[in-house]
Amino acid sequence: MSVEDNVLKKIAPDADHRRFVTRIVSDLIESVKADIRKRGLNLEVRLVGSVAKDTYLRNPDVDLFIMFPATTQRIDLERIGLAIGRSVLGGEERYAEHPYIHGEFDGLEVDLVPCYKIDSPLGLKSAVDRTPFHTEYVKKRASEKQKAEIRLLKQFTKGVGVYGAEAKTQGFSGYLIELLVLRYGDFGTVIKEASKWRCGQMLYLAEHSREKIDSPLIFYDPVDPNRNVGSALSLDSFSLFVYACREYLKKESIRFFFPHARKSFDMRTIRDEFRSRGTRVVVVEFGRPKIIDDDLYPQTRKTLEGLKALVENNDFIVIDKSFHIAEKVRFVFELQSEVLPNRRRHLGPPVWIDNAEEFLTKWKNKGFRRPFIDRGRWVVIAERDHKRAADVIRHQVDSIALGNGFKGKKGFKVIKHDSVMTGDFEDTLTELIDKRKPWER
Ligand code: CTP
Ligand code: MG
Repeated sequence: MSVEDNVLKKIAPDADHRRFVTRIVSDLIESVKADIRKRGLNLEVRLVGSVAKDTYLRNPDVDLFIMFPATTQRIDLERIGLAIGRSVLGGEERYAEHPYIHGEFDGLEVDLVPCYKIDSPLGLKSAVDRTPFHTEYVKKRASEKQKAEIRLLKQFTKGVGVYGAEAKTQGFSGYLIELLVLRYGDFGTVIKEASKWRCGQMLYLAEHSREKIDSPLIFYDPVDPNRNVGSALSLDSFSLFVYACREYLKKESIRFFFPHARKSFDMRTIRDEFRSRGTRVVVVEFGRPKIIDDDLYPQTRKTLEGLKALVENNDFIVIDKSFHIAEKVRFVFELQSEVLPNRRRHLGPPVWIDNAEEFLTKWKNKGFRRPFIDRGRWVVIAERDHKRAADVIRHQVDSIALGNGFKGKKGFKVIKHDSVMTGDFEDTLTELIDKRKPWER
């Protein structure tokens, strides 16, 4: 059996599973409709997403939308939408931008989302109003054969680690996967063509705006010509996907679809690795802010960049960096060196400009260690405030733009190389040094 047939056998819902999903979905829709009636309201309930399109993998999440008239106040849409969700699902409110309830119904995960019922996706009033149009578009155009190809491509991107447009992954949304199969015809052709993509690749299926969009992959939305369906895709996810396609073309393997989980190295192996590299590690730790992933991940990336800039501005050389989110949020910096000399070269202004005098005043009275001229500029060999990277971070962390969730500095700790190497950091450090791709593990 070919790799792809083998994968399909594992991921496509069989008749039993389809019946199971169909029954739960119709019970769920009935419950939501009953709840709406009980409130004396008249709102349409619409099944959207991959269950509606028949492009789901086993154990899908069910995406169910409650459609409000466009005249509804936003505040009422939220209040009523969430109340219905809570009464049917229990569940939890979960949103970064648009409100919805996430819960479980008879063993399937459900997102119950209020949206506006609009006539055209061009008149959208909230971020999710396009979704029913996306669902209709794919339902109308994807053939039975292509639904299987969509499932293959979903599982491939899952295995590679780039499936999902949420902030955590910054990858391909389900809809983007579907459009790629519609655009190229089948799974194999997507892989072949994507292996030749370059950054800025542009794709479309319909008339689209001429406006230039700056993004690694621009797929103009066939139901909304101004919108890029690939807008959530990061440069790294794009690049990893292109590389995975190239490797898959060289040698197909089920490992692309079902990679082995990463196993953590033991601390001894990790210590030996850093000893042989001669590099030093500093870990910055915070308590995990109690916010949803769609907020946590962007804030964590922002904080990582801020910390990196801080140590770099203090002359440390960052060789590599990563973050690790578990009960704590940890930022790891691999440095060329953890300690710098007492003094540093500090560049001043050109000799002939007016405020050169200020520079001299500031640095005078240092005996023979006074400023000197180098290529027309004042230079001084100045004392360093902090010689250790850990001290720089401890003392200056307030000067950088921390993500909101980290601003209270709950659980803030800076851990130096020797303590890291004798501590409980297997997962955190393995993530930094194990550079094998998922399918290579
Ligand atoms: N959606 C949304 N808000 C949610 C969940 C879904 O707006 N809380 C919308 C998305 O914009 C998407 C559609 O509903 O267009 C379905 O989302 P998702 O479940 O992520 O994609 P699927 O196509 O259903 O793919 P999957 O098989 O991964 O579920
Ligand atoms: Mg879904």
